[in-house]
Amino acid sequence: MGKPLAIVTAVSLGLLLAATFISSARAAEAPKPEPTGQELAFDNRKGNCLACHAMPGEPKAVTNTNIAPPLIGMAARFPDRRKLYGQIWDATRANPDTAMPPFGKNGILTDTEINKVVDYVYGL
Ligand code: HEC
Repeated sequence: MGKPLAIVTAVSLGLLLAATFISSARAAEAPKPEPTGQELAFDNRKGNCLACHAMPGEPKAVTNTNIAPPLIGMAARFPDRRKLYGQIWDATRANPDTAMPPFGKNGILTDTEINKVVDYVYGL
């Protein structure tokens, strides 16, 4: 192997190693999977439902709040899914003086996020 060829080989190997390193570093920064309805409901920077609502049927819901009605038997109490969606989108429609934040109207949760929360809450 002549000197120039050796240099070219060394440089190519170096580039290959660098490329491998960069792509594995990128993989480590891959975006997190989208949050589930439960995660959105529990997250105190998103739904934060547990700040005000207990979920007596949900063992994972850790709260001792008593501000708002417990979220339980939701499918039976909200046969119309749109009503539940509407309550979360803008609780001030049902009660202008409510303490519940208007999650959709104020852009706290997106439409997709509210739908996920509704799906989750429907199972409570
Ligand atoms: C800051 C307190 C607060 C937060 C946070 C909150 N709520 Fe509420 N929510 C209330 C209150 C208070 C009521 C009772 C009705 C009223 O006063 O408007 C209520 C009512 C409801 C109702 C109607 C219950 C019923 O039995 O008729 C549903 C459904 C509901 N909330 C779902 C949610 C969900 C889902 C979240 C999270 C995304 C959430 N709430 C976050 C305070 C809150």
